[in-house]
Amino acid sequence: MPNAIFVLPDGQRESVEVANGTHLMRAAVNHGIHAIVGDCGGSAACATCHVYVQEPWLQRLPAPSATEDQLLEATASPRQPNSRLSCQIQMSDALDGIIIDVAPTQW
Ligand code: FES
Repeated sequence: MPNAIFVLPDGQRESVEVANGTHLMRAAVNHGIHAIVGDCGGSAACATCHVYVQEPWLQRLPAPSATEDQLLEATASPRQPNSRLSCQIQMSDALDGIIIDVAPTQW
């Protein structure tokens, strides 16, 4: 199973095995990573699953949808060029080893 590494706001790293097809928000919440809230349940409607995706994985992701792009304008932590909503990132073997910095605040 591919692996994702979440870097928490306090600098701690959590390595999580994520099944192909599972979204990173769901994997984080199931793993008890509370710095990702996922308030809307993953329907790209709340922006509380904000993460910063490191390269080279960022360039392997499909571009954000118009809805994701709009929501990223309303994140509690400042939007960066590598900001994404983790509920819109679907795990795949191409993303194995992905390193994601969790945004310091989601509200
Ligand atoms: S969980 Fe709400 S936008 Fe991702």
